[in-house]
Amino acid sequence: MTTQNPHIFVTRHIGDPALQKLQAHFDVQVNPNNRVLTKQEIIEGAKSAEGLLCLLTDPIDADVIKACPNLKVVSNYAVGYNNIDLDTLNEKGIALYYTPGVLTETTADLTFALILAVTRRIVEADQFTRQGKFTGWAPDMLLGSDVHGKTLGILGLGRIGLAVAKRGLGFGMRVLYTARQDKDLPDFHFSTLERLLKESDIISIHVPYSPESQHMIDEKAFGMMKKTAFLINTARGPIVDEHALVSALLSGRIAGAGLDVYEHEPTVSKELLGLHQVVLLPHIGSATLETRTAMGVMAAENLIRFFSGKKHENLVNPQIFR
Ligand code: GLV
Ligand code: GLV
Repeated sequence: MTTQNPHIFVTRHIGDPALQKLQAHFDVQVNPNNRVLTKQEIIEGAKSAEGLLCLLTDPIDADVIKACPNLKVVSNYAVGYNNIDLDTLNEKGIALYYTPGVLTETTADLTFALILAVTRRIVEADQFTRQGKFTGWAPDMLLGSDVHGKTLGILGLGRIGLAVAKRGLGFGMRVLYTARQDKDLPDFHFSTLERLLKESDIISIHVPYSPESQHMIDEKAFGMMKKTAFLINTARGPIVDEHALVSALLSGRIAGAGLDVYEHEPTVSKELLGLHQVVLLPHIGSATLETRTAMGVMAAENLIRFFSGKKHENLVNPQIFR
């Protein structure tokens, strides 16, 4: 007699390699629709499940957690897990896993794409060309700002921040960073937030989102930046006060911004849509076929690890095993 495989609810199709891994170990039910589920639909799907594989777009709050009495483990398909009420999971002794590491370089590449796009006006220039406005080379056509020789400020030198810092070095930039402590790195300069805001030409956000980092970049922070500075955000929207960002851009307090995330995602402030000095992306930091496949496989493997009782660094709350 075999015991029944654990029942797993997956809130969205995350690729065949992940699904095949899951199906080899579990009784799997996947959201059949290619869209974000409502909270009620997540509860419907997960209420009898022992494992939940979810996305950063799924709010796994106390209502959802309490409506799923059999739930033992949540596997989030993301490196950020601010969509999940970790306190309630801890209270209930439910494990939380995430997918760090696999998306580091991919997100750093996208961050650098935004840096180059805003400083060299790539999107504007592409539109200009398509609109038939390229009628001849001109000394003052679409002048941007240099990247080499400038100061890159990395807000939060974690895995992704470090990968962006290394790219900055490759581009001939001086790199400042904030972190909980001085990491004593020969190529990069540990800095206070204030100094970083004042001295950087390009400021790139890489801290995780938490109550502590909410609106870390607010009106006061914009007030300290250079008028020629560019702000890049590929982390989480609410780290920036988007209203203050719009004011800073409209008043010329800063030169421009490159955004992959928004305070009220998927809504983008209307004012941003009209600004030529911003480049706006739809949260695609980790969006390559290779990386999304690897994230899915890692999220599936995290569930397999949990049910086989193996400890792993992708477990956010190891204390639940005590
Ligand atoms: C993407 O934003 C992630 O947290 O994985
Ligand atoms: C995420 O991977 C980070 O630590 O930056």
